[in-house]
Amino acid sequence: MRSDPGRGPAPPAAGYEAPGSCVLESYGPVPPDTVVSIDGPAGSGKSTTARALAERLGLLYVDSGAMYRALTWAAADAGVDPADEPGLLSLLDAAELTLKSSRGETEVFWGGRDISAAVRTPEVEARVSAVSAHAAVRERMVARQRALGRRQGVVMEGRDIGTVVFPLASAKIYLDATLEARAERRLRQHRRRGLSVDRGEVLREVEARDRRDSERAASPLRIPPDAMVIDNSTLTLDDQLEATEAAVRRLLAYRLPPTGHLEGELSLRYRIAFAVFGSVGRFTGLRVVGREHANLHGCILAPNHVSSWDPLILGAALAGKNHIRSIAKEELFRLPPSALLYRFLYAIPIKRNIYDTAAFDQAAQVLSEGQNLLFFPEGMRRVYGEPGPVRNGLGLIMQRTGAPCVPIYLRGTLSPQPGGGPRAPLEVSFAPAIRLHALPVLGRRLEPRAISREIGRLFEAIYRELQERSADRHPFTDWELEARERVRAGILRKESRTFHNRRPL
Ligand code: DC
Repeated sequence: MRSDPGRGPAPPAAGYEAPGSCVLESYGPVPPDTVVSIDGPAGSGKSTTARALAERLGLLYVDSGAMYRALTWAAADAGVDPADEPGLLSLLDAAELTLKSSRGETEVFWGGRDISAAVRTPEVEARVSAVSAHAAVRERMVARQRALGRRQGVVMEGRDIGTVVFPLASAKIYLDATLEARAERRLRQHRRRGLSVDRGEVLREVEARDRRDSERAASPLRIPPDAMVIDNSTLTLDDQLEATEAAVRRLLAYRLPPTGHLEGELSLRYRIAFAVFGSVGRFTGLRVVGREHANLHGCILAPNHVSSWDPLILGAALAGKNHIRSIAKEELFRLPPSALLYRFLYAIPIKRNIYDTAAFDQAAQVLSEGQNLLFFPEGMRRVYGEPGPVRNGLGLIMQRTGAPCVPIYLRGTLSPQPGGGPRAPLEVSFAPAIRLHALPVLGRRLEPRAISREIGRLFEAIYRELQERSADRHPFTDWELEARERVRAGILRKESRTFHNRRPL
């Protein structure tokens, strides 16, 4: 695993052995890099489902909860209090945590010692939520989990796999069941292991853990907006597996890469603009990753917003593909040079801080004509490059138009110059489009604004994922690391015009 200068020494990698997978011929293969996330509350049947699904699809099975359980056990063994974050971190850094996936339960090893049975005791269950609530602990666990998913296809189960660990998972499932059904399952599990426990006690324990897991500040248990929810309270195991596999395959089909190529005429203005933008791209040595994801008509292009150069750099990354009609704050249409550029490219002015119906009508029209729409979902620049909260406008446009939306991560656009400038390398990376019809959140009878908030959270997680992937290619610069620390410490919250002029930071 790569050493990340922002997080101290690299954690020891968790080892995995591939399960003795048997791919049933009738099911057909899935791409080997497929990542399936299965989230849900305690006792919702995640482990049984995830393991069986991994076998059916020929993917690796990973039980992320076992990692938190292992640390909880180690803390108890070493006399470290679950509230002692530094103590937990040093335990985690000192020992090697290995999971092995066998046909039965996940086998867990801590520093070579087999603790598979020890991590399933009620004592560990009672403390694991407290241990897993620490943001710093989660950050290290998540780094290990991501490293596994980047090496090969996985089915990973947990609480935050679809929301935080793999926001771009190929297919997401959220398993649920009534509290009573889940407590009954836990009771049977404990009894199978020879533990004598009281039914009422197990019910209270499951209820308490639900509360702790979903109310904690760091990555609480939430339903990802693009997850299929399966309530298995009354399903037999076979029926549930069938339902889950069918849902996964449907979601995989939604995620197929775009086919065909773009036709259509570029207007003269766009041909001129793209010629200019293209030469800016060549001059700056702009790196572009995953551009094929934007080979779409009528899609929303949704980058994080760093600087006024962003539309130009994005134009350089996409030169020649399609009209990019930008939505921009109306102030930019008043004075040159921005007014000239935005008017030249038929950009759409928008009034900020109100729901500007006319602008949204025009955006919908542009999309229905098959042109692409550039929209900055954060609604403001964040010059230090740390993605910020996504506003509701994005989800509202997606719901209104049904258009697919391509998340894009811009890096280093504050100072676009050859080699990326001293602050950050210059890169544009594209993620696969998020398609509204593949967002089961629509079926959850939420208000449009609540759906927009869910969509916004998904995009925030995707920006962070794209940011990390970018840092894997080109490590964070000192400037970026310092900005990151300051953002996290709450020193830098909003757009700062002075920040990049100060030297040293
Ligand atoms: O799935 P499980 O019961 O083995 O998980 C044990 C605990 O670990 C659970 O109470 C919450 C925590 N956990 C988590 O916070 N994030 C995950 N991805 C997986 C588990």
